[in-house]
Amino acid sequence: MPARVVVGVQWGDEGKGKIIDILASRADVVVRSQGGNNAGHTVENGGEVYKLQLIPSGILYPDTLCLLGSGVVINPKGILGEIDGLEARGVSCKNLRIDPRAHVIMPWHLEIDGLSEKMRGKGEIGTTKKGIGPCYMDKAERSGLRIYDLIHPDLFAQKARAAGELKNRLITGYYGGQPLDLDAVIAEYTVYGKRLAQYAADVSVLAYRAIRENKEVLFEGAQGTLLDIDYGTYPFVTSSHPVSGGVCVGSGVGPTLIDEVVGAAKAYTTRVGAGPFPTELLDETGDEIRNRGHEFGTVTGRPRRCGWFDAVIMRHSVRINGLTALAINKIDTLSGMGPLKVCTAYRKSDGTILRDFPATIEELAECSPVYEELDGFDGDLSGCRSFDELPESCKKYIAELERLCECPITMVGVGPSREQNLERI
Ligand code: GDP
Ligand code: IMO
Ligand code: MG
Repeated sequence: MPARVVVGVQWGDEGKGKIIDILASRADVVVRSQGGNNAGHTVENGGEVYKLQLIPSGILYPDTLCLLGSGVVINPKGILGEIDGLEARGVSCKNLRIDPRAHVIMPWHLEIDGLSEKMRGKGEIGTTKKGIGPCYMDKAERSGLRIYDLIHPDLFAQKARAAGELKNRLITGYYGGQPLDLDAVIAEYTVYGKRLAQYAADVSVLAYRAIRENKEVLFEGAQGTLLDIDYGTYPFVTSSHPVSGGVCVGSGVGPTLIDEVVGAAKAYTTRVGAGPFPTELLDETGDEIRNRGHEFGTVTGRPRRCGWFDAVIMRHSVRINGLTALAINKIDTLSGMGPLKVCTAYRKSDGTILRDFPATIEELAECSPVYEELDGFDGDLSGCRSFDELPESCKKYIAELERLCECPITMVGVGPSREQNLERI
């Protein structure tokens, strides 16, 4: 049985949660390897909508083991709120495990995220203000607090006080903000630690054992390839590695143990937050996609920027993630929109044609998209239950995307629920 990775291949929100939920019907284990509650993964099942931020999207299956690897950053209050919310709806979280190496998002991380965005002014990244960047900064600087610390009250009190004192100096002295009450923070987080202790377990060991026992293991990516700290549109990115390589580091599983890498994409492109977006539509077509696709952020509620499908980005993602297959969601949103444009390459200001996504945003700024126009399709696609039921021009659109992306498209989404996913072999 395979170990399969699902990654976002655009700027996040590609429908990863839905794909994971569908694949999880056959999986024994679902693992998150990076990111934190900046992610918002929507799962629709039986008319119920679940918006998951930290808990893996396999949680709706009562026997599926759900793991948060060492590369994930944990907001204790956030995860406990999610657990309580799910359990109140009858979804048990008893199969959740968190790696003791995972770093903890502390209140000063949230504070600094907000203050540093304010300081960036017009150059802001448009972060989710969940403290993600500042938490990963401390991890890289080797001064962060980990789940192991959080669940050991004495160790935690000592480390949190030392870290908090330093952060208060930074918050007041550099950012001109208000200091945090460290006694209150330590008291509050000690209670969270006591509740979270039951979930701590070595995720690398659990995931490895499951793979060795021939169980089906799914790795659930968060964010998307273009938000990767190295391979995205730096600095308008998140602070982790949403690419498939991040799975190995963030869950402690070596690359030879992974069999398949599925990329989740939309049939068009969206982005939430600042940064370059070559195929962005700042006209009524962009508004139409946003309204038809309900393109508003799951976490922040911000309107998502919308644009045409970009095959240059897709080829970048196919390469970097080593994709074996693509799942294209939201084809239903494009129905009735008339002719559809697809970006096949970029043209630089000197006229040169680029097939590969540039390495820097400075080079990207010199590029404009080269479009191919394809026939649109009409009708309500949301009731289609097999690929063959799709209109001919829709099938042609998908076949052309497949050719341009240089990767097989094996799934097509016509709606948000489990049954609205068409398998295409
Ligand atoms: P994720 O972060 O990648 O899991 O994606 P989000 O949940 O943030 O955003 C994807 C949105 O699209 C959610 O509201 C999904 O319910 C919805 N969705 C996923 N696939 C489809 C699809 O094929 N058609 C439509 N109409 N909506 C979809
Ligand atoms: P899912 O998993 C879309 C974006 C933010 C911002 C940038 C940095 O639901 O696809 P951060 O708070 O991470 O420091 O913000 O990254 N971003 C996302 N955009 N989907 C996400 O997650 C995102 N997680 C972060 O909007 O531009
Ligand atoms: Mg999302």
